[in-house]
Amino acid sequence: MSVKRTARQPTITSQLCYKRLVADADSYDLLPTAPSDHADLHAAFATIVAKDEGYPQFPGAPLMWEDFEAYWLRSATVGCVARAKADGALAGAFTMKPNGVGRAGHVANAGYFVVDSHRGVGLGERLVLHSFEVARAHGFDAMQYNFVFADNPARRLYERLGFRVVGEVPAVIDGKPVFIYWRKL
Ligand SMILES: CC(C)(COP(=O)(O)OP(=O)(O)OC[C@H]1O[C@@H](n2cnc3c(N)ncnc32)[C@H](O)[C@@H]1OP(=O)(O)O)[C@@H](O)C(=O)NCCC(=O)NCCS
Repeated sequence: MSVKRTARQPTITSQLCYKRLVADADSYDLLPTAPSDHADLHAAFATIVAKDEGYPQFPGAPLMWEDFEAYWLRSATVGCVARAKADGALAGAFTMKPNGVGRAGHVANAGYFVVDSHRGVGLGERLVLHSFEVARAHGFDAMQYNFVFADNPARRLYERLGFRVVGEVPAVIDGKPVFIYWRKL
């Protein structure tokens, strides 16, 4: 039996997360997620959850560190953060893990966010595009998103970047469906 995905390769992770992303006139440093990022990541992600922007956690409840850590950090094969070159502020991030175990482990799953004040300049698109490179380097050959809300502006982005809807799961989030997106890498 062939095993397509290789084991975690931290050296690849740290090499590939270092990159300068330029979105419009703004410049961002992409870096591997480090413990010094954790508090900023938690705060930024908690804000996104509280505003009900694309993630299934309960918006009305505070997002506890333990829950964030289990969701975004602990299960990750690799994670990167984008910090604004101008002031070092956290601007965006992605986390990536296998979408399934064993023979399903060659398909990656990733989550992304861009902090509100940095949206609309193309950082989200650059994060998604760069995550393909990172995924390939980790041995993934496809990418799947399982929880894309019907009204998420990210859907246009994903479709523009070659994803297609491979499923619709009815009545998942407050009675509304979510879409499953997939593309080959
Ligand atoms: C999705 C997200 C990462 C996009 O980040 P971004 O840096 O603004 O993305 P870009 O500038 O590359 O723009 C991507 C698209 O989103 C649109 N967009 C960006 N911000 C938007 C906003 N606040 N409202 C509506 N549309 C927005 C852009 O117009 C663009 O649309 P297009 O694909 O039709 O051209 C960001 O909006 C976000 O973090 N959302 C909350 C978390 C989330 O939904 N994550 C994905 C979970 S599936």
